[in-house]
Amino acid sequence: MADATLPIINLDVFVASPESEAALKECKKAADALITYGALLLHDSRVSEEDNNAFLDLIEDYFAQPEETLKKDERPELGYQVGVTLENTEKPKCAVDEPCLKVIARLDPAERPLDITAHSPDPKCRFFWKMSEKPPYESQYPGLNAPNVVPEDENIRERWTPIMEKWGTSMKTAVANLSEMAAVGLGLPRETFKDAGKYGPHLLAPTASDLKKYGQKDTILAGFHTDLNFLTIHGRSRYPGLNIWARNSGKRIPVRFPATGRYLLVQAGKQLEHLSGGLVKAGYHEVVVNDATLQAIERRKAGHPDRPLIRISSTFFWHLSSDYDLAPIPALQERARALRADAITLGKIDLEEETAYEPMKVGQQVIK
Ligand SMILES: [Fe+2]
Repeated sequence: MADATLPIINLDVFVASPESEAALKECKKAADALITYGALLLHDSRVSEEDNNAFLDLIEDYFAQPEETLKKDERPELGYQVGVTLENTEKPKCAVDEPCLKVIARLDPAERPLDITAHSPDPKCRFFWKMSEKPPYESQYPGLNAPNVVPEDENIRERWTPIMEKWGTSMKTAVANLSEMAAVGLGLPRETFKDAGKYGPHLLAPTASDLKKYGQKDTILAGFHTDLNFLTIHGRSRYPGLNIWARNSGKRIPVRFPATGRYLLVQAGKQLEHLSGGLVKAGYHEVVVNDATLQAIERRKAGHPDRPLIRISSTFFWHLSSDYDLAPIPALQERARALRADAITLGKIDLEEETAYEPMKVGQQVIK
């Protein structure tokens, strides 16, 4: 059974007939889920569990390679924007960010994330695989023209591009559809977000954590943070450990996928927060080793003793186009203010203080 606390949105209903009564109801549910939880589970029958498994196997095999082999896929001269980033490079920004530390301070101590104040880098590796479309106009933020990196190892090389493209496209299609549902559910024209993200620098960005090295309980695999893009979508991981926080309750929610079936997890990022004037807040999350992770490790060891013990997260970052003018949509900002006023009247406190969302280009927001 699904975690009762995270709403499940049926994308099939929308894809089958976007204007139907049932679809509109589902769109509203999607928008409400983003407003309340900053996250939702998406059911998409087009997504194949086999493709997700092929992807997880590929990335496990990739990160099981010796470090000197992985290093060949690093592109430090390109700021690691394509290819591999090895572990202990990415630091959780929250530890040195005052508003973020305040969010933690406002949480009930029992609901707080694992302590990130030591500001140690996350023990995870990442691979960036661009899945963007070149804009037909001259961009102010041309980004990276460099091609994607294809690993050298023969065994991995031949499987790599088809599997990355197939799984990446499944997630990209699903998240673009969800952006349409969210727009409709928020009372906007259906194409509002989808068009705004048409030329976004979307990334398939799986992470890998070596559970042989980092498999002790309460290890932080990714410290408490929000994502800076518009929407992040994930396939099912083989190991639990992702916790999210709902903005209204401040409760930690361990994400559990339904045991079987075609589900994806979606989280709101900073660009959606900005565009909605804070009606939707970027969702805070962390990845840690908890009891459920430990149980999954034991099951995996017993069931697949020959496989690498690596936690893969099949993350896909969906971005708005860099040249898009990021400014709160007035109708949404109005609702955000009303929601805040309600919360204050009811004595509930929002996790974050009121934020000013200065108009800027998306490209500027990313640089910031
Ligand atoms: Fe994240």
